[in-house]
Amino acid sequence: MTGTECGERLAALARLVEDGLDRLFREPCDTRLFESMRYSLTAGGKRLRPVLLLAVSDAAGTAPEAVLDFALGVELIHTYSLIHDDLPCMDDDELRRGRPSSHMVFGEAGALLAGDALLNAAFELMFSCRGTAPENVLAAGAYFARCSGREGMILGQSLDLADAAADAAARERLSRLKTGCLLEGACVSGLLLAGVRDEARLDAARIYAQSVGVAFQIRDDLLDAVSTPEVLGKPVGSDKDKTTFVDLLGPDGCEARIGALTDRAAAAAELVDPSGFLAALARRLAERTF
Ligand code: IPE
Ligand code: IPE
Ligand code: MG
Ligand code: MG
Ligand code: MG
Repeated sequence: MTGTECGERLAALARLVEDGLDRLFREPCDTRLFESMRYSLTAGGKRLRPVLLLAVSDAAGTAPEAVLDFALGVELIHTYSLIHDDLPCMDDDELRRGRPSSHMVFGEAGALLAGDALLNAAFELMFSCRGTAPENVLAAGAYFARCSGREGMILGQSLDLADAAADAAARERLSRLKTGCLLEGACVSGLLLAGVRDEARLDAARIYAQSVGVAFQIRDDLLDAVSTPEVLGKPVGSDKDKTTFVDLLGPDGCEARIGALTDRAAAAAELVDPSGFLAALARRLAERTF
């Protein structure tokens, strides 16, 4: 698949996600809590995780529209993780998705509760998915819950706060948890929702998602060191008190590792998505500038 075709497909899937979120949050705000949820969700964002789910599911024969509710739930969980990540007790960042962070507008308690409410709304949405068999929804829901919880993203956040990575290998293990796990949850859920239980394909989806995830985090660390808030929509220099990939590998080492992980992702993608979209997407993300 060419870069242009990949960009078009990405835009089409992201548009489905945007429209779905608009539908969910179209009703007038009746509470400050609802307003705070809408504030962070409708501020944009790449919508990468729901796009991955929709693309994987489509490649396995289940149309994106059939599993859209589940994919929207994935974006709600990602957004909650960002709201909490920005809190003063965590990264203490004042800008997110080009807007003042949730706690700057709604206060710390308001941001905490916005995140909590998004997490619960996410599972409500996921379990309301009617476009596939209930056993597929259950399997995907259980898998995603594990990936986002104490053995996955939240554990990664906890290790990151403790700055618990002394070398690049340890930093990769941490990044697999904090960043890779939501991507893994999205990709594997896409297969489970489509009824796929074949271990070889599930494993290929895990390898793809984790390779893209770690490469994504290395690029994120690099951009924190060299980009601008205007381009990123979030502060730069936020990681300066932390040992990041840039400290451990140096800029050239980071580029080389992103390249190797992207090759691994593209190879694994063949078994999951013969259309070539996932492989092209991995390459596109490797070169992203925001
Ligand atoms: C930010 O994720 C958190 C990381 C894992 C680095 P994204 O870069 O996907 O954030 P949005 O959704 O586009 O705002
Ligand atoms: C956080 O990583 C990833 C999450 C699980 C939220 P970062 O702290 O590097 O993400 P950004 O740079 O704030 O988006
Ligand atoms: Mg963080
Ligand atoms: Mg952060
Ligand atoms: Mg970062």
